[in-house]
Amino acid sequence: MVVEPRTALSLRGVRKAFGPIVAVAGVDLDIVAGEICGLIGPNGSGKSTLFDCCTGLLRPTAGRVLAGATDITGWEMARIARQERLLRSFQKAVVFRALTAEDNLVLAGQMTAFPGLAATFGCGQNTRRRVRELRDRAGVLLERVGLAHMRHAKAGEMSFGQQKLLQFASMLMPEPRTILLDEPFAGINPVLIERIVENIRAVNREQGVTFVIVEHNIDVLRDLSHRLVVLSRGSILADGDPDAVIRDPLVVEAYLAG
Ligand SMILES: Nc1ncnc2c1ncn2[C@@H]1O[C@H](COP(=O)(O)OP(=O)(O)OP(=O)(O)O)[C@@H](O)[C@H]1O
Ligand SMILES: [Mg+2]
Repeated sequence: MVVEPRTALSLRGVRKAFGPIVAVAGVDLDIVAGEICGLIGPNGSGKSTLFDCCTGLLRPTAGRVLAGATDITGWEMARIARQERLLRSFQKAVVFRALTAEDNLVLAGQMTAFPGLAATFGCGQNTRRRVRELRDRAGVLLERVGLAHMRHAKAGEMSFGQQKLLQFASMLMPEPRTILLDEPFAGINPVLIERIVENIRAVNREQGVTFVIVEHNIDVLRDLSHRLVVLSRGSILADGDPDAVIRDPLVVEAYLAG
């Protein structure tokens, strides 16, 4: 019997146009559960827009998006995060600057675990116990990403790199299945890049979390990814073994053409 690999995320003819600008031009792509897939392409090739279409920030102009076997096209971002445990980061570090590192993580855990007003403002025994659990989990994750010493610091007082680490830890709070990272290494120093890389590898290996990573740092991505997909002008130009893809003359040409 042949066992088909499970698919974490499937795109079928996904297209997104902004008026006359076609950002994503009909993409078919299957992300295999448990893989680390790098997604590269010149500036403006549609990488972030593709993530937006997968995670509910934008509704595709055409095509379908499936998480596992579930058609999530048109779902809101919060529902996709809560029900499908499909999460994404943004190019800029998005953290709540006025909250402590720990509270940022607790909030990230609550947003997916406690839908609805009643739960947000509830103060019953169960809620209090759950918040305690979230605080414990936040402590473990801060330790894991090397931010234990910043647990009670305001996120706004942390460096840009530390905020990116915090954003990464936030995505681990709701026990994700699939994580889409948009330029996780941009603008941060090599030591923190290595720390994020180690965490991605560990979470992928230990918990089987699937990653799709958009990044311009191709050297880091080549070492980290099991597979590399290249987007150019909204379409897939190459897809396969990272070393072979990077050497592909079509890919080299697309980058030179910008
Ligand atoms: N909200 C929007 N309105 C109009 N055009 C947009 C919008 N968002 C993106 N675009 C356009 O869609 C195209 C793809 O943009 P996108 O941000 O997805 O590219 P990218 O591959 O992520 O680029 P980068 O590597 O610079 O982050 C670009 O031409 C961009 O100008
Ligand atoms: Mg982008």
